[in-house]
Amino acid sequence: MRISTRLILASGATIVVVMLAAGLIAQRKREALLVDAHLRETETLARTLHLVSGFAQRDGRLADLDQVLASVAADPATAAVALVDREGAIRAGGPDGAEACVRGIGFARGDGPPAEQSGIAQCGGRIDWVAIATGTPGETLLLARRITFVEREAAAAGQRLLLTILALAAAATGVILLVLRRTLSAPLAEIVRAVEGVGRTPPPAPVRLRRSAGELHVLAEAFNRMAERLEGKRQYLIRQAEEQIALERRLRQSEKFAALGRFTGGVAHELGSPLSAIVFRAEELLERPHDPDEVRDHASGVIAEVERISELVRGLFHIAQRDPIEPHPVDLVVAVRNAVADVARAATRGGIELDLRLPEGRVTVAGDGVLLRHAVRNLLQNSVQALAGHAGERRIRVSVGEQATLVRVVVEDTGPGIPEADLGRVFEPFFTTKDVGEGTGLGLAVSLGIVEEHGGRLRLEPRAGGGLRAEITLPIGEAGHGVAREAA
Ligand SMILES: Nc1ncnc2c1ncn2[C@@H]1O[C@H](COP(=O)(O)OP(=O)(O)O)[C@@H](O)[C@H]1O
Ligand SMILES: [Mg+2]
Repeated sequence: MRISTRLILASGATIVVVMLAAGLIAQRKREALLVDAHLRETETLARTLHLVSGFAQRDGRLADLDQVLASVAADPATAAVALVDREGAIRAGGPDGAEACVRGIGFARGDGPPAEQSGIAQCGGRIDWVAIATGTPGETLLLARRITFVEREAAAAGQRLLLTILALAAAATGVILLVLRRTLSAPLAEIVRAVEGVGRTPPPAPVRLRRSAGELHVLAEAFNRMAERLEGKRQYLIRQAEEQIALERRLRQSEKFAALGRFTGGVAHELGSPLSAIVFRAEELLERPHDPDEVRDHASGVIAEVERISELVRGLFHIAQRDPIEPHPVDLVVAVRNAVADVARAATRGGIELDLRLPEGRVTVAGDGVLLRHAVRNLLQNSVQALAGHAGERRIRVSVGEQATLVRVVVEDTGPGIPEADLGRVFEPFFTTKDVGEGTGLGLAVSLGIVEEHGGRLRLEPRAGGGLRAEITLPIGEAGHGVAREAA
């Protein structure tokens, strides 16, 4: 049962009991007063009759006396009006049945009339009586009158009392209910709301109670302090858990990267001599003036492509080794443009529209341009591959934008996107859903490594309307990295 209900029941019951007791006492007093007043009236009437009977007996007008007694007896309130002799027999008076009352009063026991008496007795209801000795020895004038009206009055008063108590109790209960609702139920409900919100996200709003709420105000303030401490602890634990997860992920990655490093080291080493030989031979071709221009063009193209391969291998090796990069000012717009150029041909082949949203001027960050270009190219390559066999719209939007101290590169495609279950794993080295020869599962891992090396973040999320949205954020103007924004 609710506290307020209990309080209302308890106070309501107390009010009823106290008022009932007070009412009953008052009613008893009033009844006693009424009976007393009635008895006085009976006494006055009895004395008058006594005088009348005295005069009538003195003047020998007994018939008049009988008439007077008869008229008093005719009053329905009269239980007995009589001249009673020593033996308790009625000499004159009435009404019918008065003998029973005379006996009921109990003074007529044959031992003579009482000097002067009065009292209360029962005779078919409550009566009061007055007895006065007349001039005739042994004779008593008895007047007994019913006081039933007092009982009727008491019953009516009892009813009034009950109604009054009920009305007052209802009014008091209503007032108590209102007061309790404002001072107890509402504040408690507010506290319960906040208690239930503890540990949830977002945390519950603090409980605000007026000072007039007394102890509940104190309780609310204490609760707010506790909730604040708990929320602080919770946030701390969440941060710890997140750091732990990130640490584990980095550990797993670094193991794979170590293997990758050994592998790439070997490949780079092995590729070194043939690549040098290719460059050497291409340079030889360049130096033959009598060859057609076409040959020399192709030779330059070969040298440029080999340079790219060397750069790539160097970049991959660098990331796998986790060597700290040496920051230089890099125009991110150029890096992104180059990355787009790297995939442009494949995009055209796949019937994919490239939608570029690049700013006019330079956006400079500190870092390694080759690596950044590589990071963006991996994202673009994934989008191209995802869209190649895609039935729906085939579009990749690439945008570069700035926001406060960050620069943002976003690659969005209209492809199938990444299933929820895979989202947590795609950054793991060697995780791929592609066939051998199509994917190695290194693209996103390498891009993430590059971006994190630059103090940035790489996030993947479903694109609104289908497809994938990849976002790289890099710090701008951060002292540690020497990043600067240069005007166009
Ligand atoms: N734009 C994209 N759309 C759909 N799936 C993608 C996209 N980008 C990455 N993925 C998924 O993430 C996996 C890992 O990508 P990545 O690390 O680049 O390796 P790879 O491309 O070699 O498979 C892919 O195999 C693919 O399942
Ligand atoms: Mg890839």
